[in-house]
Amino acid sequence: MSLPKTVSENPLQSHPLGDLDEWEDDLRRRYPEPTAGTATTLAQSAKQAEEFRDYEHTARESVREFYRLNHRYQTVDFVRAKRDEYLPRTKRVMGIWEAMEFLNTLVDDSDPDTELPQLEHLVQTAEAIRRDGHPRWFILAGLIHDLGKILCLFGEPQWAVVGDTFPVGCAWSDKIVHHEFFAENPDRDVAEYQSPLGIYERGAGLDKVLMSWGHDEYLYHVVKEFLPEPALYMIRYHSFYPGHREGAYDHLMNDRDREMFQWVRAFNPYDLYTKSHERPDMARLRPYYEALIAEFFPAELAW
Ligand SMILES: [Fe+2]
Ligand SMILES: [Fe+2]
Repeated sequence: MSLPKTVSENPLQSHPLGDLDEWEDDLRRRYPEPTAGTATTLAQSAKQAEEFRDYEHTARESVREFYRLNHRYQTVDFVRAKRDEYLPRTKRVMGIWEAMEFLNTLVDDSDPDTELPQLEHLVQTAEAIRRDGHPRWFILAGLIHDLGKILCLFGEPQWAVVGDTFPVGCAWSDKIVHHEFFAENPDRDVAEYQSPLGIYERGAGLDKVLMSWGHDEYLYHVVKEFLPEPALYMIRYHSFYPGHREGAYDHLMNDRDREMFQWVRAFNPYDLYTKSHERPDMARLRPYYEALIAEFFPAELAW
């Protein structure tokens, strides 16, 4: 994306990733697509565990720097400040398709062949869900799930838009990638935040838990009145890899979360593994998606 790749002393101006997709490319390296039709054998899962350990040692420098900033600056105070700023949703008024076009104004410099990088990821995700015969709200969740990345266009740094999300206000799970970078997070010195439960009660439910700030949580608040609960979980927790992939933070979840996380896990392969060089025919697909959007959303939403 057109954000310059810069590493600055000022964390608000430091954009170590060449583009936001570099984080997702890195996720695919960490979680390679399983071979179709084969049950995971013991030998395979041992190999995966080994690859995961190896992963952190071989991560690209830009990705490491990105996680260093993310883990250093995502504090309870930072998350509260961003919620105060964005949850009143006073930045813009626009419809879903307009938001997709707005997101696309983040042009990808690193891949000039792709004119519509963000829109294509959204449509490819939605089309794969549609091909598998899932309900219309599931397809719609795929179509919109990354619209919260417009945070970048509101001036947020990469580390406050993308990256694996995690709860703040309690001990960081060692299942969070690059856990070592939390050594620099000032919440380390707040005793109340350093127990497994932190400021929360056991089984409180994720709705009561403050997650690190990013595109998932922001979009959830924009669309929460309009979609069924499983779609909202997919949107709100799709980057919560420590939770949906690594099984961490079960002590903060309630039974509803556990049930709904089956949907989050069902969504994840469509997000990670549907990137294709085959360009979606936007002119042909647009009427279908405009109708799908109109079925659930008003013409305009507050962002
Ligand atoms: Fe995402
Ligand atoms: Fe995505």
